[in-house]
Formats: sequence, C-alpha cells, structure tokens
Amino acid sequence: MQFPTSRLPRPGRARRAARSLAVAAATALAVTALLPTGQAGAAGTSLRSLAQARGIYFGASLAQSDLNNPSLTAVAGREFGMLTPANEMKWDTTEPGPGSFNFAPGDRIASYAKANGMRLRGHTLVWHNQLPSWVRGLPADQLRAAMRRHITAEAGHYKGQVYAWDVVNEAFNEDGSFRTDDPFHNALGDGYVADALRTARAADPNAKLYLNDYNIEGLNAKSDAMYRLVKSLKSQGVPIDGVGFQAHFVVGQVPASLKANLQRFTALGVDVAVTELDDRIQLPANSAALARQADDYAGVVRTCLAVPRCVGITQWDVGDPDSWIPGTFPGYGAATMFDNGYRPKPAYTASAAALAAGAHHLAPTD
Ligand code: XIL
Repeated sequence: MQFPTSRLPRPGRARRAARSLAVAAATALAVTALLPTGQAGAAGTSLRSLAQARGIYFGASLAQSDLNNPSLTAVAGREFGMLTPANEMKWDTTEPGPGSFNFAPGDRIASYAKANGMRLRGHTLVWHNQLPSWVRGLPADQLRAAMRRHITAEAGHYKGQVYAWDVVNEAFNEDGSFRTDDPFHNALGDGYVADALRTARAADPNAKLYLNDYNIEGLNAKSDAMYRLVKSLKSQGVPIDGVGFQAHFVVGQVPASLKANLQRFTALGVDVAVTELDDRIQLPANSAALARQADDYAGVVRTCLAVPRCVGITQWDVGDPDSWIPGTFPGYGAATMFDNGYRPKPAYTASAAALAAGAHHLAPTD
C-alpha cells in the first residue's frame, strides 16, 4: 500500500508510539492482574492516574452531603482527577434571591477538590432548571441584566479555580429547536447564548467555556442544532471553547455515531468532553447487564482516546448508592462504575483496561 511520504510518521513519533504501546501493554497486564481482586487503586492504577498518563482526565460529580461519607470520598479522592459539583453551583443555590449570593456550598466542594489535587468543572451558569422563580418572571431587559450579573458574580467568584464552565446547559428541545420552557430564550431570543458566553469570558478569561446538553451524543436533530450553533458562534468570534456531552445512557444504547459526532465538533475548533456519564440498567441488574455496561463504559473511554480534542470524561455521581438515577428514572439504577458497597464493578475494570491499553492521546498540535 502506498502512503504519501508527508503522511508517514516521523521517526521520533514512531519511537514514541512504540514506547507508549509497550507501556500500555504492560500497564494493561498490570491492571487486569490487579483488578479482579477488587484492589482498585492499588499500585497506582486509578482511573485518575491511568487517564492522566493518556493525556485526558477522569472526573466525577459529587454533592456537598457526599463529603460526609467516608466510603464515597475514599473512592472519589483516589479515582478521580476532576470534580463537578452536582448542585452547588446552580442558580437556585448561588443566587436564591436577586443579588443575594451564596457561594458557601460551592466553596466547600472547591476546597475538597483543591485538597485532593483535583480540578473543577463549574456547573452551571445559565439553565432553565434549578432556577429560582424570581428569575422566571422578569421582563426582558431585567432578565438580561440579571443573567449578566449572575454570570459575572459567580464566574468572578471562582475565577482561577475552575478549569471549565458549563456556561449554558440544555438549551435545546429534542427536535433541535431552542427549548420551549426556557425563560432566557423566551425573553432574549437566540442571542442569549452569545451574550452569556461573552459575559463569562469577561468574568474569568482563563476558564474554558462550554455549552452542555444531553441526547446530543449521537448524530441526530438535537446534535445537529448544537453543531449549527457552535459553528455560527465560532464564525462570529463569540468565545466558545468546548461542547459537553452529558452521556446519560441506557445500557446497550450508546449511539454508534458517538465518535463521528465528537469528531465533527472538534473539526469546528472546539474541545469536547463527556460531562455526566452514567449507564442505567433496569433493576435488578444481572451479570449480563453488568457485562454490557462494562462494554459501554470501555467504548466511551476508547472513543474519547480516539478523538484528539476529547479532553476528558466525567461520571455523574461516584457510586450506585449516591447516583441520581433511581430517583429520576424509577425502576432503573446501577448506573455507575461502583456498586452499593463502593466496590469497583466490571465497568470500572473495563474502563481502566481501556485507558491502560489506549495509545497516548496526542494533543492536536503534537
Ligand atoms: C441532577 C443532580 O444530580 C440531582 O441531584 C438534582 O436533583 C437534579 O440534577 N443534567 C444536568 C445535571 O446537567 O445538573 C443534573 O443533575 C442531571 C442531568
């Protein structure tokens, strides 16, 4: 087979690739040898260190109350290098009354992250949900002012502490139109997204600015809408650094087009991240379902490693006992990588092995 010479790997790169393959193979062996005994984290084989060695991060979300649970924090501190507050940076917590700010809960999560050498994803500045009712009722000019004040105060408060902000969360309906029950879009029109991004950039110039949504993981009408929006924002010079794919999956239903979809976004010049990964199973979960779940998790890891600007993966919640799934999707659960005793499940072993076996994740400029 003929390759144009310019496409042949440079010798340095080939050597590096060979070396990282050898290291990956050795680590994969070490991981598979260790993990079946349940010794997750032993000998440095945590998701966090394996991900770091591949040039991505592995994170999780947690809530303030989770910090009082020693079995949960033992796993969180060992396995995850990025933290997302589950609720503590949402508008109903941070600005319950007009101009009255409360950053104490978010600060507690931020200090826990700092104490454990984890980075932070800020979640979220503008969202129709978990929004105090006083915001909903405002006329357009006051709503615009309130949105800007909120972003400025919150992103300003966390300036320098947050790796990335989900600036706007869940802007779209399933058919790709802007969300119907969204007070920001209803009052301000499509331009509220650009306005929010510009305000966030001014408040914290070093934070990566994301749009985040669910059901945009595969190629579909909703991800098409996100794609068009990001493309249009980029062409107008609006600050947008990344797209977050929540990835609240049902076991066995990870879209086959995940990789192609992530790739079309990175081709626009933005980072992509899996921001809220879980994979719910109809309860009771049997071993076949857990095995399928392991394939799903490993598939997501492999996909992220295969897309150079996929910067990392965050699981939503730490283990099955603290997962939001059973409360929101009755009859479903077992959606995380850790079981009811915070022991690693097959999904953990498979994710760790996929990280260990993966080629080094080259930065786009590498
Ligand atoms: C969830 C939290 O985990 C729950 O504790 C809360 O009751 C509801 O919100 N998409 C998001 C997250 O962007 O903020 C949601 O988090 C899960 C769905």
